This record gives sequence, C-alpha cells and structure tokens, in this order.
Amino acid sequence: MKIAVAGTGYVGLVAGVSFAEMGHQVTCVDIDEKKVKKMKSGISPIYEEGLQELMQKNYSEGRVDYTTDYRSAYKDADAVFVGVGTPEQPDGSADLTYIAEVARQVAESVETDCLVVIKSTVPVGTNDKLEQFILDNLAHDVHIEVASNPEFLSQGTAVHDTFHGKRVVIGTESQWAEQRLLEIYEPFKLPMVSVNRRSAEMIKYAANDFLALKISYMNDIANLCEHVGADIQDVAEGMSYDDRIGSKFLNAGIGYGGSCFPKDTKALDYLAEQNGYELKTVKAAIDVNKNQKTSLYRKASERLVTFSGMKVAVLGLTFKPGTDDFREAPSLDNIPLLLSKGANIYAFDPVGAESFAKSYPEGPNDRGSITYVQDVRDALKDAEVCFIFTEWGEVKEIRPEEYLELMRTPIVFDGRNIYSLEEVDNTDVEYHSIGRRTIERSTKGRVSQQS
Ligand code: UGA
Repeated sequence: MKIAVAGTGYVGLVAGVSFAEMGHQVTCVDIDEKKVKKMKSGISPIYEEGLQELMQKNYSEGRVDYTTDYRSAYKDADAVFVGVGTPEQPDGSADLTYIAEVARQVAESVETDCLVVIKSTVPVGTNDKLEQFILDNLAHDVHIEVASNPEFLSQGTAVHDTFHGKRVVIGTESQWAEQRLLEIYEPFKLPMVSVNRRSAEMIKYAANDFLALKISYMNDIANLCEHVGADIQDVAEGMSYDDRIGSKFLNAGIGYGGSCFPKDTKALDYLAEQNGYELKTVKAAIDVNKNQKTSLYRKASERLVTFSGMKVAVLGLTFKPGTDDFREAPSLDNIPLLLSKGANIYAFDPVGAESFAKSYPEGPNDRGSITYVQDVRDALKDAEVCFIFTEWGEVKEIRPEEYLELMRTPIVFDGRNIYSLEEVDNTDVEYHSIGRRTIERSTKGRVSQQS
C-alpha cells in the first residue's frame, strides 16, 4: 500500500519505517527541512535502538522516503497516518493545533480515496470532529474517512514494541476503513482488536492511565512501607506472583515521567471534568506522582544542613533509560530546587546531557552551578551527596563500595532502588532509597573516612 506518515517523532517515524520494513511504500512528512535532510542521509533525529539501521536499510531499498512536500506525499496515498504531537496545555487539555493543521493539509491535497489514521493520542470524540473538518475542507471529490489507531510503544524499545506488540487497536466506523487497516497490518501478524472510533480513543487513555495508577499505587504503598518498616521490593515480589496483578510496572521510584503518562492522566482528568464527571482514581495518581518526584529532595534536605557550595552528583537526567527524552523527568523537578539552594551539581547522563544542557547550560545557575561529565565516576569524585534519578546501565554498574572510595561523604539518595539493601549493608555507604529502610553509616566508618 502507499502510505504517508505525518510527523517524524517517536510515533510517526517508527510507524513509517516499520510499515516500509513490512513491504509498504512509505513517505514520511515533516515540516522541519533540516530534520528531513538528516533523515535522508540516514541519521535518526531521535535516539531509539535499532531505528537508524532500519531507516538506512529501507531508504536504500527504496521503500521509505522523507519530505517536507506534504501535497505530493498525500495526494495519492491509500492511507495517511498522523503521529504529530498533542502537547499538554496549561489546563491539562490536549493541544490539537498540529493535528488540525495536518487534517487541513490532507483535505487540500488528497486526490484519491484515502483513510486518515490518527495515531496521536487525542481526547475521545476528536476523530469524529477531524473527519467532519476534513470533509468540510475537501478539495477533490474523493472518499475519505478517519480511523483511530492508538500507539502502545514505549520509548527506548519502540522498534521492538512495534514488531512484537501485544495487540493493534483499530477504531473504525465502516467496513471499508476496517478492511484497509487490517490489510495494512496483516504482515505484522499481531492480534488485532477492532472497535469503534471512540472506544479506540478511550483504550489508549485507559491503558496509559491504568499503568500510571499502578506506579502511583506502588509509590503510595512504598511511602507507607517507610513509615511502618516494610520493604516495598519484598512487597512487590509477593504481589507479583498473583497473575491478576502481574509482575510489570510494580517498581516504586521517584515518580513516572515522560511525554505520555503525565500528559494522558491530566488529559483524561480534564475530559472527565468537561463531561461533569470526577475521575477520582486518576486524580489521585497525578497527586501522588507530583509529591513523589521531590520525595528524595525532601529527605535529603532533612538529612543535610545545607546544599550551599556542596558538590552534588546527579546520576541520570532522562525520564527513563534508553532514551534522550527528559520531558517531565524527575531531574527537572529536583535540579532547580538544588540550584536554588546553592548546590554545585555534577550531572551524568550517557545520552540526555547534551539536550538537557540546552535548558540548563553549563556554568553558574541561580545560587549554584551545573557541570556535565562524561564519566559517571567524575560526577562522584569528591561529591558530598549523590542523587540517582535514572537507572542507566552505567549507573547500575557502579558498585556500592565505589561511592565510599570516590565520594567525600558517601551519602546516596537512590530514586530507582538499583541496589539490594544487602549489597549496600556490606559497605559503609549511607543509603536512602524508596520504600525501604535507610542504611546508616557506622561510627567506625565515619571516623575512618574523616581521618
Ligand atoms: C508509555 C506506555 O508504557 C506505552 O505503552 C505508551 O505507548 C506510551 O507511554 C505512549 O503513550 O506513547 P513510555 O512513556 O515510553 O511509555 O515509558 P514507560 O516505560 O511506560 O515509563 C514511563 C515512566 O514510568 C518512566 O518514568 C518510568 O521510569 C516509570 N516507571 C515505569 C516506574 O516508575 N515504575 C515502573 O514499574 C515502570
């Protein structure tokens, strides 16, 4: 099939290249000239395992191309997939400006029957409106319909998730649209869930918000564990054997981040409010997460007299490993707080440091300063306190005793529970984590460290 894809972010680009890999003829459209040039030369604009190789292979074999010329890409496409962003607005609602712009361009350009497939996450009912909008602006006499096809891939494993997805959800209002989508996805050999458009739109929010709730629930229980002397990792393990609960997304930590869970929880809460309904569970997830993101900072502030003039090691800036994305990452909540208290931050992130530095340039900032280091151990060298925000492999490789060797005072606040308490117990590191007991340093260790 001839497919055009609007938007070359995580959703659009991965979908486009995967369709090409499955034998479809694909043109990816983006408004950014520079980005298009880069993609044509075989460079992926995002860091995503396996994506660049797949781009190069399919480009050289002539199945995928990139352009800014939307007219030529859309005019004879059998389907236009839309994967542009739907960022959060200040009131929590989704900003549909980009998607509406693509809909207008499609309406102007399409010269043959075409299915417009919305992959972007949009509030329930948006696809009905988009279809009407396209019909109102249609330049040629063609059959056009809108379908919903929400995306379930995770950043960092996007390519793998696309080929090994648990299901593909399609939301259509006619057999024609359903058949076209079934045909496009046939080579993937994945379970297909075919529902109406509004249900498909809701599945996406309900799935993401359920996962966000699951994490917030575990974070809530973790906080209670700290009060009552239980251990969240043992609790999670005990829960995980029940396959009604499952073992995934039970990791307590410093809160969920990224471009999806924070945005989609707020958007569903907003949608409910607009419809006169209070979505109490999702509201609670949002609330717990907000509090969770600064929980370690509050613990550290209680423990330390000051951050002023202190060398503070920050390990990990992105919202999770395997991505250079730091949208809504806990680092974004904690770094300004630390800087405002005069901390001299030495930050390590194997992939995200360069883009993070665009928001927080190296040098003095507020009452403190920030320096980016290439080697995780350079962040730890002579540091007085360490925060772990992202569980990168490079961070997990640091053995607990290295904190003792490298840091001036080995005090670690671990937001990802990367060590077992047993392995830290054998060292003389002071270790604070989430939902587990704190490991204090022995007096003997403190004396030997100072001498
Ligand atoms: C999420 C969903 O998992 C995807 O299915 C969905 O397609 C995607 O949003 C989207 O809507 O586009 P993603 O945001 O890439 O994917 O990342 P996740 O792996 O789900 O992690 C989200 C956040 O939850 C991260 O900050 C992670 O550290 C945190 N998390 C995850 C926990 O704190 N504990 C866990 O047990 C799991």
